[in-house]
Order: sequence, then C-alpha cells, then structure tokens
Amino acid sequence: MDRAKESAGRYAADLVESGMRVGLGTGSTVHYTLLRLGERIAGEGLEIIGVPTSVATEKEATELGIPLTTLDAVEALDLTIDGADEIDGEFQMIKGGGGALLREKVVAYATRRQVIVVGRGKLVERLGTTFDLPVEVVPFARPLVERELAGLGIETRLRRRDEREYRTDNGNAILDCHFSAGIADPAAMERRLDAIPGIVETGLFIGLAHICVIGDEEGQVEVRER
Ligand code: 5RP
Repeated sequence: MDRAKESAGRYAADLVESGMRVGLGTGSTVHYTLLRLGERIAGEGLEIIGVPTSVATEKEATELGIPLTTLDAVEALDLTIDGADEIDGEFQMIKGGGGALLREKVVAYATRRQVIVVGRGKLVERLGTTFDLPVEVVPFARPLVERELAGLGIETRLRRRDEREYRTDNGNAILDCHFSAGIADPAAMERRLDAIPGIVETGLFIGLAHICVIGDEEGQVEVRER
C-alpha cells in the first residue's frame, strides 16, 4: 500500500513548477508529496509557496522547508495536491478520513487545478460503499444533527480518539455516516446534508477534482484527467 501511495504522491509533486501557489492536502499519501517537494526545494531550488489544509500538514511542511502562507495572502492557488478516501469514475470523492475535510474543501474551491493522489484501492463504482462519509458538526448541534440523519435512515458513529470525542483543527466533531447501499446521488446528498444547521461541511467533494494520479504496488502510476 505504501508503495502505491509513494509513487502517486511523488509523481504529483513533480507537476509543481516554480512560481506556483500550491495547496497542500493532508494524509499519508500527501506525506510523500511533501517529502518530494522538500527534496526539490533543497535540491533544484524550486520556488513555491504553500497553503496547508491542516495543522499536521503545516507542521510537516515547515519541518521540510516548504514556505507557507494563508488565504489572506493569496487569492487563488495554481495547483492543489490532496488525497481521497474514495473516488469514482466522475472524480466525485469522499474525503475526511484524516478529519481535515473543511480546510481541504476550502482550498480545493480556491484552486485552479486539483490533483488527487490515491492508491488503486480507493477507486470505487459508487461512493459510500467502502468508506463511511465524514461529516463535520458543531458540537452544540450534534444531538440535533444525529437525529436528523437518523430520520434520513443514515447510521452515524461519533468519531473518537484516545477514548475522547475527536476534535477537528476547527474545534468541531465528526460523525462518520454509514450508507448501507452506498450513496446513489452524491450531489443531491451533499445538498441535503448542507441544509441541516450545525453541519459545517461534508466529506463529499463533487466537481472539485481535475486530475487523478493512481499509484500501484509496482510503483507505476496511471494519470486520469477530467
Ligand atoms: C484527510 C483526507 C485525506 O486526504 C484522506 O483521508 C486520504 O488519506 P490517505 O492518503 O492517508 O489515505 O481527506 O482529511
């Protein structure tokens, strides 16, 4: 699995050119992108500025010598590289396994080109069949949101870490939502969930990805463009 992540993550880092403003995603595949960007900055003088999508990525990028900024300083990003938990044939995705969905979606929205890096195992026919959908919720509203989702027939599980309620970088909770038959219409589901007060963001990413880099265990990559 790591070989697949490494080949996809490194390949995407080589799409970055000097002068670019780059969105930096979150997760174990993007980890390899960050390593490669660090190598290129040190080795060939690549000049970029990055906007991280999580505190974890901010920390790792800083340690690797990748210069960072915020959305205060840049209006648009040229390229963003991020992972996914599931991606279908239309480049619709479930993200948020690492809890960074809100900032990841903001950065994806601000970017001209979104490159997704995955191992082949993340490709699915229908979203929600191999991974539960993360939904970020304001803690105050969680009981209401849980009841609303139950009313829609969606099973929820409150994410925990070390016996305590998990908190995102934004101080919110995550409900991992199970769809017994997957999500038939992801765009309609996103609209339905966004209409519930207290839901800050869902892990459904629709129409946001442009390029998908798929790594495999042999170290090969396949690149698909939308
Ligand atoms: C974090 C994410 C990640 O991009 C997603 O979970 C994929 O992670 P990994 O590359 O570790 O499998 O959405 O919120």
